[in-house]
Amino acid sequence: MNKSVTKAIFPVAGLGTRFLPATKSVPKEIMTLVDRPLIQYAIDEARAAGIKEFIFVTSRGKSALEDYFDMAPHLEAELRKKDKVDLLAELKSTNMDSGAIAYIRQQRALGLGHAVWCARRLVHNEPFAVILPDDVIAAEKPCLQQMVEAHAETGGCMVAAMEVPPEKASSYGVIDIKEDLGSVVSVNGLVEKPKAEEAPSNLAVIGRYILTPQIMRNLNKIKSGSGGEIQLTDAIDAELREGRDVFGYRFQGQRFDCGSKAGFLQATVAFGLAREDLHDEFDGYLRKLMTMQTAAQ
Ligand code: UTP
Repeated sequence: MNKSVTKAIFPVAGLGTRFLPATKSVPKEIMTLVDRPLIQYAIDEARAAGIKEFIFVTSRGKSALEDYFDMAPHLEAELRKKDKVDLLAELKSTNMDSGAIAYIRQQRALGLGHAVWCARRLVHNEPFAVILPDDVIAAEKPCLQQMVEAHAETGGCMVAAMEVPPEKASSYGVIDIKEDLGSVVSVNGLVEKPKAEEAPSNLAVIGRYILTPQIMRNLNKIKSGSGGEIQLTDAIDAELREGRDVFGYRFQGQRFDCGSKAGFLQATVAFGLAREDLHDEFDGYLRKLMTMQTAAQ
């Protein structure tokens, strides 16, 4: 049995330029899918996977994120007074245990690998998860939970993997597969953002990782990879070159790229339709909209 994973790093220090001007003052992770900020989906997924310590790598202008996890005593008192029991329960479910959250600053946005490295002193000698909150995954069993269960068997490093069409490969890290075992694939190499014709497979890495502490030591050594940023992919690739195991995990579920406008809109529609309290009205509206558009064409 491999060591359990109880710590997760949430790198949220990126500039979020694809959502400017909104991200001038609103952190991307606070943007809401229906009525919950992106970060709440990530936290819920981590909790379901057994994560107990939540490490946020933040940057200037992200104080709204820290406030979000604070208690809201005035709001709670007001809801209690008005007997709004359901809302109160909803609000309380977002509270975090004292001491469960740590914040580390990434002073300059030098890439995902660098953001993860900033948390090195909080990880100690244990495997840890990395969750990118702008990848939102709708799944019966939360994605990280699926991975933690698989990782208990495999050990090593594990990345979430998803099939993508070849023309999309250049937006991802792509897996060179050593052996395909179904849900789990063993990895030969990782290629960051390859051209379509050079992609070693159609299996792309998305924003969930379980990593060994050795990754932090690899990041120590890496100065800069592709694009001048310090890439997490390079630190994982270094594990392979040293002969250690890296696995891809084909998760069950649907991933939405909420770091892009189109992905965020798709997620809004999917999560809106999935909500019992909104489904009928929203579904009716979308159908009407489609009919009107078809008629206009
Ligand atoms: P993205 O590539 O989506 O970058 O980062 P971004 O800055 O958030 O957004 P755009 O591309 O400018 O619109 C993927 C994840 O890595 C984090 C981001 O916060 C996001 O969760 N990240 C990225 C950092 O924490 N630090 C960095 O230096 C880069």
